[in-house]
Amino acid sequence: MSVLVTGSAGRVGSRVVKRLLDAGRPVTGFDLRSAGISHPAYREVVGGFDDRAKAAEAVAGTDAILHLGAFMSWLPADRDRLFSANVEGTRVILEEAARLKLKCFLFASSGEVYPENVPDYLPVDEAHPLRPRSPYGLTKLIGEELVRFFERTSGTPATILRFSHTQDATELLDPASFFSGPRFFLHPKIRQQEGFGNAAAVALLKQADDGSEALVLSRNEAGRPFRMHITDTRDMVDGILLALDHQGAAGRTYNLGATDPVDFAEALPRMAELTGLPLKTIDLPGAGVFYETSNARIRTELGYEPRWTFERMMNEAAQAQAQATRAS
Ligand SMILES: NC(=O)c1ccc[n+]([C@@H]2O[C@H](COP(=O)([O-])OP(=O)(O)OC[C@H]3O[C@@H](n4cnc5c(N)ncnc54)[C@H](O)[C@@H]3O)[C@@H](O)[C@H]2O)c1
Repeated sequence: MSVLVTGSAGRVGSRVVKRLLDAGRPVTGFDLRSAGISHPAYREVVGGFDDRAKAAEAVAGTDAILHLGAFMSWLPADRDRLFSANVEGTRVILEEAARLKLKCFLFASSGEVYPENVPDYLPVDEAHPLRPRSPYGLTKLIGEELVRFFERTSGTPATILRFSHTQDATELLDPASFFSGPRFFLHPKIRQQEGFGNAAAVALLKQADDGSEALVLSRNEAGRPFRMHITDTRDMVDGILLALDHQGAAGRTYNLGATDPVDFAEALPRMAELTGLPLKTIDLPGAGVFYETSNARIRTELGYEPRWTFERMMNEAAQAQAQATRAS
């Protein structure tokens, strides 16, 4: 079975490509960037998802599509690009895919289709009302609708995976990383909040800044520590490949991610211990980040079992950091 993987140069997509090639499957990658993978069974199309000619070239000859690519940004300045990549791009790929007899189409959606931080109930399961609170989450919800429309009209079975927040373990303790930097480290967090135009948050963070880098234990305005799921990329790849090959996944929607959420009040002191950085506790304006998502459906129906706890991820991150320090 020949598989098209979109987002093939990305965190998740590149790992999926490698796992499929290792399993002896022919793969096509489709991304704005090259994945830099050289393998006799690997073909690559470099271009934008909303470029019809490129999309047609990418889908040609494939039996299954894993649409894992997307643009992730929460900056107002990126709004046009967000909708072009995630909504128009998904529509164009689906229209080109409808010309084929595909065995399955799998779509990487997001937990942001739910009102994660102001849910009706916890843990959030797949039956929870869909009310995205970010433009990015809205693009994923529209993507889900496009996928289900394609499934109804083309007869191709589709699976939607609502991804948890996902990152490589080695990104966790890296202040320069896209997610961990602004989530856990003071200076990247100040830059992120400046980008969002959150003047009150910037002022609070700057009050805590003595010029040297620090970790931030973020809490909401009532002093409740942030809590969210952080899933290791390897566990996401396992879930995607499981859904690709499981007949029971056809037509289904699953939350995919770690079983237990990460409580920042427990995680940040441990991160401070591992990095040797000072820890600042900051109560940020608003309701803050606080959610728990159930992965019970995919565990029960498909037998999914994540292997990377947050503690395991942190230990690996600390080892990687120690190795880098020894090498420098
Ligand atoms: N990482 C997370 O925390 C997270 C959480 C929820 C959902 N998701 C979803 O999971 C999927 C994979 O995430 P990831 O962490 O690997 O992301 P990533 O940013 O590492 O990879 C996404 C890839 O898509 C490509 N891309 C973006 N816009 C494109 C366009 N217009 N045309 C062609 N290629 C384009 C990028 O070049 C990149 O290589 C995405 O759909 C993302 O929205 C991720």
